[in-house]
Amino acid sequence: MYKQQLTSEFPTDFLWGGATAANQVEGGWNLDGKGLTTAEVVRKGDRDHASMGDVTADSIKAAIADPTDTAYPKRRGVDFYHHYKEVKLFAEMGFKVYRFSMAWARIFPQGDEAQPNAAGLAFYDHVLAELAKYHIQPLVTLSHYEMPIALTQKWNGWVDRRTIAAFNHFTETVFKRYRGQVPFWLTFNEINTGIWGFHETGAVDTDLDKQAQLQIRYQALHHQFVASALATKQLHEIDPQAKIGCMLARMQTYPAAPDPQDVLAAQQADQQNLFFTDVQARGAYPNYMNRYFAEHQIKIKMATDDEKILAQYPVDFISFSYYMTTVTRHGSTATTAGNLALGEANPYLQTSAWGWQIDPIGLRIALNEMWDRYQKPLFIVENGLGAVDELVDGQVHDDYRIDYLRQHITQMREAITDGVALLGYTMWGPLDLISFSTSEMSKRYGFIYVDQDDTGNGSLRRIKKDSFYWYQQVIQSNGAKL
Ligand code: BG6
Repeated sequence: MYKQQLTSEFPTDFLWGGATAANQVEGGWNLDGKGLTTAEVVRKGDRDHASMGDVTADSIKAAIADPTDTAYPKRRGVDFYHHYKEVKLFAEMGFKVYRFSMAWARIFPQGDEAQPNAAGLAFYDHVLAELAKYHIQPLVTLSHYEMPIALTQKWNGWVDRRTIAAFNHFTETVFKRYRGQVPFWLTFNEINTGIWGFHETGAVDTDLDKQAQLQIRYQALHHQFVASALATKQLHEIDPQAKIGCMLARMQTYPAAPDPQDVLAAQQADQQNLFFTDVQARGAYPNYMNRYFAEHQIKIKMATDDEKILAQYPVDFISFSYYMTTVTRHGSTATTAGNLALGEANPYLQTSAWGWQIDPIGLRIALNEMWDRYQKPLFIVENGLGAVDELVDGQVHDDYRIDYLRQHITQMREAITDGVALLGYTMWGPLDLISFSTSEMSKRYGFIYVDQDDTGNGSLRRIKKDSFYWYQQVIQSNGAKL
């Protein structure tokens, strides 16, 4: 994709938009036949920004028996289930694309039924019809931090190989139904975070020791790699015009000092992050993982055709979330708060109210590195600032958010000038939603304020913030007016 001309503008077909996930916006957790998901058994406080936390087998049992949403904010979301027509507000901002996820358990409540739940499909039919009305292109994530809880109870989720077939039955169902309607799909949101064993990603392993956990997490991830490659095969056969991508939580890291030991440690940390994209985009496990697996006594069980499947069906494009960077020092275990990333604090950077290190230039670095490494089109599918917003006289003056986004979009433009092929940008959480990590409502990302508090009280009214009008002008000018 060598371009002879230097360009410092966003391509005319650049896809501006926003991104959400089913379990953080939809609500309607028990309506119209939907099954319970792994996200809907997580309470506020199970995980906070200072700890990776986790749910336990006992807390899951208690959650399954609880018929209310009181303790479980992701059962409520922001009631997008009944408010989906408000994608009109996205249209008003000029969105070209809207990234959202389809909840597997809305369509297959137990995860492995032969026939889908018609009412679940009907909901997504309506969402897609609404988007089509405004010419907003859908970018659909097939698995965003949730799966049917029934499969985790029955098989321990992705740890069991049978989950591949169940997932691919779901993907085949939606690919066929929405053929010609969805130009872009993503398989697993932030697939690399599976290594931390979040319950939402489908492996319940809190009772195992560290070594056993590592083993089953890599095994579960292997099954996701295979399922992702098989979904790619299915999509190319069913809907050849559509494109499918992988999704990584990009954790760019810097060496703490020019000490070669720090540089090496940072390179290794980077490899542990890019490993996932290496498999999904290049179609094979990279060599550096052989040493890592051997040193950690990890043995991945593969079926005869797995390597062939990975090699034959790499993704069409690479997407990633970008929130922050970290610092790696050889031999150090110091950590700072962050988007699930653990590294040292960087004295050159400021942090958000939740301690995430804000680093717009890091985005340019990440874009260049990923483009150089893969030479496949990139898509930034998450970026944004979680902040406490104040609603005063019906208005939210969120200049701090505008400033954050402006700086990141500026660096995106720089990367495009550097020659990076970037398809689009979907900022995270265009309307306020439930935080993934802390299950709070008060950590807000949106251009649109949602009147709801941490306990679920509020009118759910949608209110445009100052950033709403700012983003509208960004899109209108195709990134020229920042
Ligand atoms: C990403 C996730 O990690 O970051 C989203 O894909 C999440 O689901 C987003 O919401 C922001 O994180 P948080 O914890 O502030 O909601």
